[in-house]
Parts: sequence; structure tokens; C-alpha cells
Amino acid sequence: MKIRVTSRGAARLLAHHPWVYRSDVLEGPDRPGLYPVQSDKGVLGLALYNPASEITVRVFSFGDTGRPQEVLLENLRKALERRKAALAQEPEGAFRLVHAEGDLLPALVLDYYAGHGVLQVGSAALEPLTETLAELIQAELSLQSLLAKNDQKSRSLEGLPLQIKPLRGSVPPFVMVREGAIRYRADLLEGQKTGAFIDQRDNRIRLQSFRGKTALDVFSYHGSFALHLALGFEQVIAVDSSAAALQRALQNAQANGLTNLLAQEANAFEFLREQEKRGSQYDLIVLDPPAFAKGKRDVERAYRAYKEINLRAMKLLPSGGILATASCSHHLSEPLFYQMLAEAAADAHRTVRVLEKRGQGWDHPVLLNVPETYYLKFALLEVM
Ligand SMILES: C[S@@+](CC[C@H](N)C(=O)[O-])C[C@H]1O[C@@H](n2cnc3c(N)ncnc32)[C@H](O)[C@@H]1O
Repeated sequence: MKIRVTSRGAARLLAHHPWVYRSDVLEGPDRPGLYPVQSDKGVLGLALYNPASEITVRVFSFGDTGRPQEVLLENLRKALERRKAALAQEPEGAFRLVHAEGDLLPALVLDYYAGHGVLQVGSAALEPLTETLAELIQAELSLQSLLAKNDQKSRSLEGLPLQIKPLRGSVPPFVMVREGAIRYRADLLEGQKTGAFIDQRDNRIRLQSFRGKTALDVFSYHGSFALHLALGFEQVIAVDSSAAALQRALQNAQANGLTNLLAQEANAFEFLREQEKRGSQYDLIVLDPPAFAKGKRDVERAYRAYKEINLRAMKLLPSGGILATASCSHHLSEPLFYQMLAEAAADAHRTVRVLEKRGQGWDHPVLLNVPETYYLKFALLEVM
């Protein structure tokens, strides 16, 4: 059985963008599965297919006519192979082993936490292969446990249930992960995403070299940046709206013997407004908000929200202060991100120097053909 797409769908696939939307699918099987895709130009690739999903076709191999399941499993093997040296070097670290389209494995995420794996399956075509995927992962990595953390809302767009279930071994209540000079507890079962935001690892380690009196980690989750900053600053405040994440932030501080990390449960917008009113000053501020733009429609509103928090943070920094600021929304492109920061600097009447332009870690690979794979922008700025 084959999927046939329009010439517009074919043009996307010929440009090696893997998605074809429902409106560009001319015919296909009734059921989700792995199938070849073709147009009147011939076979274009092998794809995950779900007639019930808006993104109906997700190609995992371009121009290939091999057996779909074997090609998919080979892509998985290659993704694991690319990370094996890092795992051998840092077995107690955390890494993304499979980054969906970035690894030619659409809708599949696999994260590694100090010997434990967390899998997220986001396609009805992949779901029945979960056991086969687990078998290959286990044969390649011999993990202590493997969890299917299928609670992401996007699964309902695929008609899949939200559920969390162990696939291999027994999943511990938390896993201790080493990251640069600190260690943190990742809560694989109850935490956000797969347990931690691994994409910021290198940026967090980068901040270990800064020194000063006071630092603020806004949208801190379980104290992620704050823990690194607590090594070089006299006092660090971690701000987040999640009480559970902040509780872990304090446990994490304790696990590292750090007594200079304070946790503040608050709405970041209100917190920053209040700090500005009080005339507070910090030597370094981290802003790592959730994706304010979930879709194209949200970009204008999100732009204003990003600008508001960055503008306020710039006002809270003395001359020479450092702003480490991020956006994880791929809808806010890199040019728009820096335009927003430039407008915030102008409105704050501050000269702002770009020290470094950074992004997501190497284990979250970016495909030039798929702009959606480049989502995390991270700017290190000096406010003068
Ligand atoms: C992208 S995550 C931060 C990741 C973290 N910096 C790290 O490196 O692990 C965003 C965080 O913002 C928090 N959050 C979401 N909306 C918030 C709000 N309005 N005020 C404060 N925190 C918020 C979430 O609980 C989540 O922990």
C-alpha cells in the first residue's frame, strides 16, 4: 500500500522537509502505519502515516525504497551510535538520544538520565512498534530502566491515550544526574517533559564561570541554572510557578551542599514587576520561559511577553550586569528573538552587548531543511 501526495506535497519532500499535511494527501491506507510515499514523480520516501492526523505524513527516509520498519530501526541504531561516546564519557550525565526529526525519527524522543531511559512516542504509526523500539534500545544500551512517558498533549491529535508506563526494569522515584560541577535530581515520573530540560545543559554549565553577589534564575524549574550560579554568586534566587519543581530545587541545593539558594514560588511576570518597583538589582539574571508561542497565531502576543520580561530584567541589572535569556519557541525565529531583545534594550535606554549567541545542545540536532528543529535560542548579554 502506498501514499500518494499532490505536487505541492511532493515539492516539500523533494526539498527534504518531512511533513505533508492532510490537504496534500491524495490517497492512502485507512490505517496508521509505515508506508512508501509517492507522487507522479515516483517514490519520494518512507513515512509514518496517520490519516487522522493533520500532519498526515512524516518521512523518515528520503528516496528510499527499503523495508520501512528496517530503515526506521536503522535510523534509531544510528542515533544511539552518535551518542555512545558521550554516554561512555559521562555515564552519570543526561543526554537526548533521539531528537525526533533531527535524528530522522519523527515523533520519537528518547532521553537518557544516568543509566535510565525515557521514551516519548508521538505518532499512531509508531505506537504499535513501542516494544520493538524498546528491544533495540535495550540491546544497544542495557539501561537500568526504560519508561514510556506518553503524557504529552500532542498525542491526542494522533488519537492516542495519555499514559505513563515502565517498559523495562523498575523506574526509581528520582535519578541523580551529574552536570558539570553539580548534581541534580530528575523526577522521571512526575517531572515536566521527560524529567529535565536537557537542551540547556551546555548553557547551564557555561554560566558556572560567572562570579558576583546576587543572581536571579527566573523560570528556574528544579533550580537548574540556579545550582550552577550558586557556585559563583553569594546568593541566588530561583523563581518558578511550580511548587513541586521548587521543592526539588531546594533538595538539589542540599544535595550539592549549597546553602545560598533561595526558592520563590511566583508568577514571573508579577515577580519581575514587583522587583522593578522596589528598585532591586542583581548581577546576573537568567530568563528561560516556557514557549510563549505554541503556534504561528501566537507570535505577536508572545513577542510582547518575551519583550516585557527582557525589558524588566535589563532594568534590574547594574552596569556590567549579565542577562542570559532564552526562547524555546521555534515560532519566534532567531532574527525575531534578537529584534525583540534590541527593542527591549532601546526601551530600557540601555546599551546591550552580545557576548555570545548560543542554542540547544549538540544532542538536539538541527536539520537545515526543517526549521522547526532549531527551536532554542540563548543569548548571553552584557547590559552596560
Ligand atoms: C523552559 S522551563 C525552564 C527550564 C529550566 N530553566 C531548566 O534549565 O531546567 C519553564 C519553567 O517555567 C515555569 N513557568 C511557566 N510559567 C510560569 C510563570 N508564569 N511564572 C513562573 N514560572 C513559570 C514552569 O514551571 C517551568 O519550570
